[in-house]
Amino acid sequence: MKRKLYNGRDPARAVAIADLRAMAHRRLPHFALEYLESGAEDELTSRRNRDAFDAIEWIPRTLRDVSKRAMTTVLGGSHSSVPMAIGPTGFNGMLWHDADLALARAAARLGVPFCLATLANASIERIATATREWPDSSRWLQLYLFRDRHCTLELLQRARSAGFSTVVLTTDAVVYGNRNWEARNYRGFKRPDWRNVLNTASHWHWLKNVYLPGLPRFENLDSFIGKRANALKAAEWIEQQMDTALNWKDLEWLRERWDGTLIVKGIMAGDDARQAVRCGADSIVVSNHGGRQLDGAASSLSALATVSEAVAGKAEILLDSGIRRGMDVLKARRLGAQGGLLARATLYGVAAAGETGALRALEILRGEVDNGLAQLGCASLDDVAHVSLA
Ligand SMILES: Cc1cc2nc3c(=O)[nH]c(=O)nc-3n(C[C@H](O)[C@H](O)[C@H](O)COP(=O)(O)O)c2cc1C
Repeated sequence: MKRKLYNGRDPARAVAIADLRAMAHRRLPHFALEYLESGAEDELTSRRNRDAFDAIEWIPRTLRDVSKRAMTTVLGGSHSSVPMAIGPTGFNGMLWHDADLALARAAARLGVPFCLATLANASIERIATATREWPDSSRWLQLYLFRDRHCTLELLQRARSAGFSTVVLTTDAVVYGNRNWEARNYRGFKRPDWRNVLNTASHWHWLKNVYLPGLPRFENLDSFIGKRANALKAAEWIEQQMDTALNWKDLEWLRERWDGTLIVKGIMAGDDARQAVRCGADSIVVSNHGGRQLDGAASSLSALATVSEAVAGKAEILLDSGIRRGMDVLKARRLGAQGGLLARATLYGVAAAGETGALRALEILRGEVDNGLAQLGCASLDDVAHVSLA
């Protein structure tokens, strides 16, 4: 029997993240889709991320009272209704008009933290305004340490003033990953080739929603590059500002300047995890950037056990890269993480149907975590640690 995913327009009919992905594939022009999906080089690591989750075999327990299941937890110093947060992704405005606001609002509605990327299209302040309706919502800011540290200090100050509780330092992207699929769509620097121009012209919904209201800007960078800077100028500035000399002293520098929760993202080695904790990280994200940086890196799930052992409970561990099911979050928990960061999973939702789609993605994952707990014989997230694996 040939099985078909749902790829229509009604997010309520999506029953799995795979349906929202199929909807996004239908709606997005090719170049935007490649930006979203691309892994680096031969995409070995992207595949490994999924394979590692798929390889886990549970030995579920039975005849346990699972009539009440507790899913709330604390991640990165913030309360969350499920063990997940929306992780940082830049340039979301290419997928949906004001996608950052849509994601932030969906996260606030469901009671999960939202992390704004420095290279987001919506500013720190606009995110704060968009989530004002939910005074308890948790906002995090992802940072790169730009060469010009004054820019970083300004972002920290703005985050503090806007009530952001947590900063996430990305450490695995000092150079841009070698994403061949993405690069093939352009002739010259960031100029789409004619095939992509034609393909984009045939995507009316996208044109109306994203292109006509005006191409997205990197609003957090306005005060550094000016409001009028086009995407080319912004891309040049960002490339110049990426600091390949970044090292542990810089993490200590940041720790001295940020008194909220500090998360270090992009850790794969046990020794690096230990060092991050020594430098004052409250939390670390085991991550290979969704296979978008070093191709050939291990899956983040297979790096988790070593990191967990090295950290030995001295800091919280989060994990991302490849989460597409609620059960994946429980697998990460079983292997030592407190929770998972979502990226493509919620991006498929927002690319399919804006805020409603992002909310649908979160609801699907929450439902799967709840169902998964019951089927594993667990009344709480802590019980998952005691479930055996084959
Ligand atoms: C479109 C896209 C943009 C991203 N932008 C950023 C970013 O600006 N900063 C960052 O730290 N990580 C970024 N990431 C990496 C994610 O935070 C996350 O580590 C990764 O996507 C997890 O893999 P998954 O999407 O397969 O679950 C991006 C990922 C995607 C897919």
